[in-house]
Amino acid sequence: MNVHATTSRTKDDIASGLLNAPDLEDYYRRLIPVGMEAGWHKSEPSMYPMPKKEFVPAHWRYEHARAALDGAARLVGTEHAERRNLIMHNPIPGNTYATARTIVGAYQMIKGHEVARSHRHTANAMRFILEAGPKASTVVEGKKVPMVPGDVLLTPNWAWHGHSNDGPDNAYWIDFLDAPLTHVLGPMFFEQYHDEFVQQAAEVADNSPFRFPFAVWGPKAAAAPELAPGMREIIIGPPLLDTLRLKWRHFAKDTELGEAQTAANCCYAVQQGSGRLECDGYSFDWTRGDVIVIPSWRKAQWKANEDSFLFRVSDETLLEKINWLHSTAKGAQMENAENWGRGSF
Ligand SMILES: [Fe+2]
Repeated sequence: MNVHATTSRTKDDIASGLLNAPDLEDYYRRLIPVGMEAGWHKSEPSMYPMPKKEFVPAHWRYEHARAALDGAARLVGTEHAERRNLIMHNPIPGNTYATARTIVGAYQMIKGHEVARSHRHTANAMRFILEAGPKASTVVEGKKVPMVPGDVLLTPNWAWHGHSNDGPDNAYWIDFLDAPLTHVLGPMFFEQYHDEFVQQAAEVADNSPFRFPFAVWGPKAAAAPELAPGMREIIIGPPLLDTLRLKWRHFAKDTELGEAQTAANCCYAVQQGSGRLECDGYSFDWTRGDVIVIPSWRKAQWKANEDSFLFRVSDETLLEKINWLHSTAKGAQMENAENWGRGSF
């Protein structure tokens, strides 16, 4: 008997066993070694009436993050850490990275007179500036883009970016990326800028298309039409990211808002104000610099204690493109990228 004959007979035995299984239990057992499972016998259904609530609503406090970043600044330099950042992973078992299923958020800082290495990646990224002196900047494609508190700076897919701080003050910000989505889909690519630690940049680009100053966009949000009593929202654009939608949300003092459920995963960072969020049994008291995540299809009830601005990052842009942006909003019309800034100019 040669090896080939043995293999053939084994194959025949497997096929014969499946063909002639005496009962379903025996049949299911024989499917295991051939790497199959009966679709009618799955332990978990693969389709269900609405999104599963696997990621949970969660809240991170800037008070904690700032102290932790200052602690890290004593212990690790940017020459050893690609980024001195603190990842806000959703507190569910087994997860160490994603804040929501498609989005990761992280607090980050560089000290005065420090730099953070230039690199690029396929994941789309942005940063929302919390604190910075006048000479802190993100170097995007060779130009210094000023980091002013409240500003939103974009580094789309494969754009070179590093950080430099020519002044004495520490700079703190929040990064949001679609890296968890990139992980799921597969095409993660990353490259360090090899010639220099930080890409040389002489030009300061105040009017960079990648910069959305709060001095411009805050007033626009506050002047936008009300979407609900006391709540205004505006899309930040033109939208340069293919997956993520960025918005400014404004709550007037004492606004209470029961928000429609949405298929989108939404992260919020607080620029100004304070309030409370009740979300599917979770309660969070939010204030400046804090981050909140409301995963897909959660019920949210907002209360603003004071005049408040929240920066909102969601995967609405992607979901809209593929017609998956479901919502319980009455008469909900899907927004589209053409609507950015509508009603505010
Ligand atoms: Fe980056």
